[in-house]
Amino acid sequence: MKPIDWNSLGFAFLDTNCHIRYVWKDGAWSDGELVESPYLNIHIAATALHYGQAAFEGLKAFRRKDGNVSLFRPQENAKRMAMTARRTCMAEVPEAMFVDACKRVVKANLDYVPPYGTGGSLYVRPLLIGSGAQIGVAPADEYTFIVLVTPVGPYYKGGLQAVKALVLDDYDRAAPQGTGHVKVAGNYAVSLYPHMQAQKAGYPVELYLDAKEHKWIDEFSTSNFLAITKDGTYVTVKSPSILPSITNMSLQQIAKDLGIPVESRPIAFEEISEFAEVAACGTAVVITPVYQVERAGKVYKTGPETGCGPVLEKLYQAVQGIQYGQQPDTHGWNVDVD
Ligand code: PLP
Ligand code: COI
Repeated sequence: MKPIDWNSLGFAFLDTNCHIRYVWKDGAWSDGELVESPYLNIHIAATALHYGQAAFEGLKAFRRKDGNVSLFRPQENAKRMAMTARRTCMAEVPEAMFVDACKRVVKANLDYVPPYGTGGSLYVRPLLIGSGAQIGVAPADEYTFIVLVTPVGPYYKGGLQAVKALVLDDYDRAAPQGTGHVKVAGNYAVSLYPHMQAQKAGYPVELYLDAKEHKWIDEFSTSNFLAITKDGTYVTVKSPSILPSITNMSLQQIAKDLGIPVESRPIAFEEISEFAEVAACGTAVVITPVYQVERAGKVYKTGPETGCGPVLEKLYQAVQGIQYGQQPDTHGWNVDVD
């Protein structure tokens, strides 16, 4: 193992000991094997390559204060991947197998879980693909389920540093009855071009509006939208075309625990500058404050330019506190890997 500078990890792939791999054939999953090589030998007519039968998940393993390593709510990722599998006609991964796969691969890569106190974690990336050959447009007869891991730090440079977001009215992410609510690989392929446009304009993140009216806020390309109103309510988006974020779900529970009122409802874009604090939330981005949003050349202020607003800060400390074992895990969200 090459030495790793734990304190300067970003969000990039680093090779580890192994990944875990299962194959579904004739109606059953194999037992799963740990594979050292990071390469996959795949049929040239696999449906994942041609017809986008590909789904992924993202969760993290944390080294806690007591030295143990735990996964954060892996059952929820299992449920969401099953939902994606159903929407894309892929073989479902049973929840117990999914959680076991995550535990096994983390255990085989414990050296890569960043030490407690560095702020890093081991990113766990389950992937489900149609690996069977099919030239007509139809579901594959073979599927491959992989869980790979890689140590990560903050997704955007600077950790809990605020970013600015851009609305690109020429691009949509997901239609109301499309696939925005599931984690299909193609959702991310279509986000790359607008993402490059946003980056060119100096924005690390894009905010999507609903595809039908361009009136309502949907979400960011890799995370949900959340805001704190001036009277201290946690508001988040209710829309048929956004991914149900496990981080957002957890933060809503934490907010309730802290006595913060929570609202999940359609949010019109015109409300944007009325909020006291705005953030992106997700596994990779955790809580990333958004200090301004630009749309059609107009800039809307959405929070302090440096650092983080007080309510977001409180939520961030609370969720990280549970994940790193600094606070009691009252909801039983941490799943030990052994
Ligand atoms: N929205 C999108 C489009 C995402 O890709 C993600 C990341 O998984 C999220 C939201 C956040 O979901 P979660 O909190 O489950 O990671
Ligand atoms: C995650 O937060 O886990 C994601 O999947 C978002 C992104 C890195 C694609």
